[in-house]
Formats: sequence, structure tokens, C-alpha cells
Amino acid sequence: MFNKRIKVRELLTREPYHEEVTVMGWVRSFRNNQFIALNDGSTNSNLQIVAELGRFDDALLKRITISASLKVTGTIIPSLGKGQKMELKADTITILGDSDAERYPLQPKKHSLEFLREIAHLRFRTNTFGAVFRVRHSLAFAIHRFFNEKGFVYLHTPVITASDAEGAGEMFRVTTLPPLNPPLTKEGAVDYKEDFFGRATNLTVSGQLEGELGATALGEIYTFGPTFRAENSNTPRHLAEFWMIEPEMAFCDLEDNMNLAEEFIKYIIRYAMEHNREDLAFLAQRLADEEKQLPQEKRSELGLLEKLDFVLRNDFERVTYTQAIDILLQSPAYKKKKFQYEVKWGIDMQSEHERYLVEKHFKKPVIVTDYPQEIKAFYMRRNDDGKTVAAMDILAPGIGEIVGGSQREERLDMLLQRMEEMHVPAEELWWYLDTRRFGTVPHAGFGLGFERMVQFVTGMSNIRDTIAFPRTPGSAEF
Ligand code: 4AD
Ligand code: MG
Repeated sequence: MFNKRIKVRELLTREPYHEEVTVMGWVRSFRNNQFIALNDGSTNSNLQIVAELGRFDDALLKRITISASLKVTGTIIPSLGKGQKMELKADTITILGDSDAERYPLQPKKHSLEFLREIAHLRFRTNTFGAVFRVRHSLAFAIHRFFNEKGFVYLHTPVITASDAEGAGEMFRVTTLPPLNPPLTKEGAVDYKEDFFGRATNLTVSGQLEGELGATALGEIYTFGPTFRAENSNTPRHLAEFWMIEPEMAFCDLEDNMNLAEEFIKYIIRYAMEHNREDLAFLAQRLADEEKQLPQEKRSELGLLEKLDFVLRNDFERVTYTQAIDILLQSPAYKKKKFQYEVKWGIDMQSEHERYLVEKHFKKPVIVTDYPQEIKAFYMRRNDDGKTVAAMDILAPGIGEIVGGSQREERLDMLLQRMEEMHVPAEELWWYLDTRRFGTVPHAGFGLGFERMVQFVTGMSNIRDTIAFPRTPGSAEF
């Protein structure tokens, strides 16, 4: 019977009153042929197990190697050693699985995050990744809880689709046609009519368009699923496969949208701070140690926990794109030619510009609204100035863009005009346009990049360290 075991996290909340318990986990270290540090993944804290000298066979003790899995039954007693309030005095120790210490790649020392990425199948067994993945779980849970409390319907939008929701052409094709000698049309192009779905399909870049279909009947929906982008961006903030949360609300304008996004982000941060105190404290210390290697001016002014607390206690700054460009043009950084990329009205802001606004100028999360329509997707609602759209991006310190959203163009004629200008095929999106034909309503929504959110909360500087098995250009191991 395995489920008689008690998890270490639960055990540590009890008083050590000589209770008999069974624990299971993996050996982190074994000292003096006597003290086993056992971790079962439920918490960063190891349980100290005492194998009294003379009580166990040498043959058994030899098999207690790093990362071997054990079942231990014994008595919980107050610990004499410092560093823990209790320890488990072992009565029986069973080796569930041996571990060849010579070949085991993780040693009880600090490994680089780059190295750990190469052994991503084992990195869950480190303190850092144990903490990251427990926090990631909490954030995911909090997201569902937030929307459930608000009466949103969780909508599962398709992973395989025939449309390009963002119109950016960064899609992974999905096909069962043979790569060599596929069927061809008369014109010599690949004939996707012969393909599995009778048409060309790809992995979704966003569930938004289908989300709008749901919202314009169910009122308020959200999606939370994997999305895929074949953009060749080798940065610490881009993945080819990432998870996105996309709420979509009928009877909602840009301001409502911003308010919801801000409330949402604060809610999930608060949830993690309340439920993952130990893990976040560990990650804060990890980040502080990492930053000690950096020159003074590159270090964060606030520690991780102070930063999160600061975000909770302050309103996000709200500026228009036009104001943001003015701030950049007036900045000392601009005047001293510190920006690598050009600054003028109409640019798609580069990460250096976003980081300046957030980290140097406002020093808090910033919502930038009303971007030029040329740099935004076809579905965003055109403002009365005829130049900008009712878009909003949320920029977070250390990350840059964490949310992208907008009020949607609900006016059929305006939408059709914009699609034509942007060469978005209206005939293929006939079903999307139907929402504007049958009882169209003002509506809005946004997308939160989940891994960027996990980055923000855990302080991990590379997005590859926030998802179990990252997919990036040239890399799909595991
Ligand atoms: O700004 P994006 O492209 O917006 C959309 O997809 C809209 N359909 C959302 C909506 O309005 N429903 O992406 C939204 C967010 C970004 O702000 C960013 O946080 C994240 O998704 N994101 C990525 N995260 C990791 N890797 C990538 N390659 C990402 N691309 C976008
Ligand atoms: Mg965006």
C-alpha cells in the first residue's frame, strides 16, 4: 500500500510527538553513514532520516546513494541537530530503486542553469526547479480560480486550426502528406486538398478568434492552453511552444479590459505569495545570489519578494503609445544615443525601449495603449483619430511585454476594410465575421503569456527555465 505514506510537506506541519509514519522519496545526501536527507517533491525541505549506527546491514547502507528512492518507516522525534525541528528515526528502510551514483549527473553542488537545461529530465530534482514548478502550478490553479470566481466559462479552443489568428504568418504546418513527392495542384503547389483535413492546417498561434465566438454568446470566457509560434527568436523571453491565457469579454471596452488584466495579475501573484512562501523565499535568495555576480548597476533595486509586494501595492501606470514615444524621445538615454534602435512615432517598440519605460522611467508595470494600427493585428478596434487602435500591452519590469490585448473591431464594415488592407482572407474567416453580422457587441480581451508570468514571479531570467521541456529554435529534446 503506497498511499499510507505521508508527504514531507504535511509531516513538517505536525508536532514531533513520537508518531510512527512512512515516507517515500529520493535521497539528496547521506552523511556519516547515518543521516539521510530525503526529498519527496512536496516541499523544498528535506526530511532528515536517522539510520542509527549498527542497526542496518552494510549491504543496505551501501545502496543509499544520491537519488536512490526509499521507503522509510520510523518514528518522528524532535531533532537534536540544528536546521530542522524534527527527524525520522528509521525502523525499516526499503530501497525502492537503486541509483548509480557514478553515473548520476546531479551532485550536491551548484550546477549552472545551462547545464541543467541539458538534463531537463532530471532538473525537477533540484531545489530551484522544485520551487519553480510548484510556483508554476499555483499560478495555473489561481488563474482558474480567479476566472471561476468571476463566472467566466473555460473554453477549450482548438490546437489545430486553418486560420492565422494574429495574421503574422508564424505558424507550424500540420500535415500528413509525404514530405517527398506530395500531391501537387495543376500549378505545381502542394495540394492540401489531399491532406488529412482537406485543407492546409497549422498549430494555433492564439485561441482568440474562437474565444470571441464563445464570448459573444456565453458573455465571458477564457482559454488556457498551449500556443505555437514559428518565430525564429532566440531570446530569454521567447518559446516556440508556450501557454497562453486569453479571456474574452462581451460588453467590455479597453478600460474594462485593462482593469480586469491588472486585477487578474495581482490576484495570481497574491495567491502564489500566500501559498508558496517557502519556495518564493528560496527563489528570492537564489536570485539575490545570482545578482551578486553582476556589476552594481545591473542589480535589481528590489529583491524578488519586495518586487512582488510592490506590484501588489501600486497601480499600474497607464500611458498611451504616443506619450510613451515622447517619454523615450525626452529621455537621457535617447539623448546620449544609448538606444540601439530608432525611436519615432510608428515604431514597434524594441525591448530596450520597453525596459527603459518600465525599469528606468516608471519603475513599475506599465500599460501602454492606443498603438499605431500599422503595427497591430487586424482585429483591433480603430480609434476615432483614424491612426491608432484600442490596443493595450502590459510591460513588466525585467520581462517587457507580458500581456497583449485590445478592444475588438465590432463594426463589420470597418473590420472588412481593415482585413482587406492587411490581406487577411475574409472568405476563410466567414465564421468570425458572422459574430459581427448577428448581434455584434463591443467586446475586448487579452492574452497573458504564462511562462513570462512564471518568469516574473519566480525571478528566473531565462524563459527556458519556467517550462518543463522548452521548445526553441533548434531544440526539442525530451
Ligand atoms: O501579444 P500576443 O501576440 O497577443 C495575442 O496572441 C492575442 N491574440 C491575445 C489576445 O488578445 N487574446 O501574445 C500575447 C502574449 C504576449 O504578451 C506574451 O506575454 C506572450 O503572449 N507571448 C509569448 N510568450 C513566450 N514566447 C513567445 N514566443 C510569445 N509570443 C507571445
Ligand atoms: Mg503582442
